[in-house]
Amino acid sequence: MKVLIAAVVFCVLSAAGFSYGPHEGLDCLGCHDPHYAKAPKLFKVNNEVYPNPRTGEAINGISALCLGCHNLSQFGGANIRPIFLHMTHPVNVKPNPKIAKVPEQLLRDGELQCVSCHDPHPSNPFWKYLRVDTKKGTQVGKFCAVCHPAKADFKFYGLAGQLDIKVFSSMNEAVGAKAFSLTDPQLTIENPTPNYIKAFGPIRNDLAPAYTFVPFEPWIYNPDPKNLPPDLRKLIEKPKKKKKRGNEKKKGAPGP
Ligand code: HEC
Ligand code: HEC
Ligand code: HEC
Ligand code: HEC
Repeated sequence: MKVLIAAVVFCVLSAAGFSYGPHEGLDCLGCHDPHYAKAPKLFKVNNEVYPNPRTGEAINGISALCLGCHNLSQFGGANIRPIFLHMTHPVNVKPNPKIAKVPEQLLRDGELQCVSCHDPHPSNPFWKYLRVDTKKGTQVGKFCAVCHPAKADFKFYGLAGQLDIKVFSSMNEAVGAKAFSLTDPQLTIENPTPNYIKAFGPIRNDLAPAYTFVPFEPWIYNPDPKNLPPDLRKLIEKPKKKKKRGNEKKKGAPGP
């Protein structure tokens, strides 16, 4: 019975579009700082040390922000799921049109960056914060086809072609966060804002306290309702009006 209730709650939860990813736990302040920002868009972390093996230069732009967390601390990151550029898909490069046909909106100053492939905002419901719904990573080819359409079998994904793929964006508050068609004039991926942020000298990448317990929350690895933090669980259980659930304190094992 308990299993059944959990299953029902979980179905309701997923059907309602609730999906909690790890960036929720950063609670905005993990990435942005309204007063002590180090980089544009009020970003509070920045990787100034890790060179790009493709260009030999320091990584720049939005990708330096991601790598302020997603690299080892000795390489300027915060040891969170480190991304090593020497074994990563190229970033910080202007695309060779024979290798990639990148939709203009996905580039930053003409270059491919982490945000060309990911929209890291917590509102992004897709697997690994990718911009395309890959059905939890079972249709990754659909995502790659946004920029490498000549390589993909569109029939296999039930798509007419590159322009048929929908791309997620959270950057247009006028219409809200959703997956847009590549030709939709409301698809906004970048709002260039004047950059006035000047950090005083070297400020340590200081992460909001909220982030520190995020990687160890069992609900990140196992989206079973019983693993949700009690306050979130209360939210989804309310309509069910089930009080006796027992055994809820059990801690899930930390993930890999
Ligand atoms: C994982 C890091 C991360 C988290 C967490 C995060 N943001 Fe962002 N935010 C970004 C990045 C990266 C950009 C710039 C994106 C770009 O230019 O493509 C950005 C840009 C923005 C912008 C500027 C948009 C624009 O058009 O210039 C606003 C406003 C914003 N975020 C608000 C928020 C709020 C509110 C939250 C919490 C609900 C949040 N962010 C959480 C990474 C994050
Ligand atoms: C303030 C630190 C911080 C910044 C900045 C940050 N992230 Fe994250 N990110 C995290 C944490 C924490 C996790 C969860 C790690 C874990 O569970 O082990 C995470 C996880 C992820 C994941 C895996 C999601 C999943 O479902 O498995 C992706 C993809 C990701 N981040 C992309 C990005 C990108 C792209 C940027 C830059 C636009 C970025 N992050 C910036 C802290 C950060
Ligand atoms: C060409 C598209 C592309 C670019 C550019 C890209 N990523 Fe990813 N990223 C992916 C895909 C696809 C996955 C899921 C497959 C995987 O986990 O390897 C992923 C997964 C991740 C994860 C989760 C890894 C895990 O352990 O689950 C993180 C963190 C991440 N990316 C961060 C970044 C950062 C930081 C950058 C910029 C330096 C970046 N990505 C640039 C496509 C991209
Ligand atoms: C947002 C656009 C974009 C997406 C999505 C994308 N790529 Fe790329 N890809 C590029 C660009 C840009 C380059 C670099 C072209 C250059 O070297 O000038 C590239 C290069 C490559 C290369 C050649 C790398 C090398 O070192 O020569 C491979 C292989 C590749 N991509 C595979 C993939 C795969 C697999 C996926 C899906 C998981 C993917 N790409 C998703 C834009 C993209």
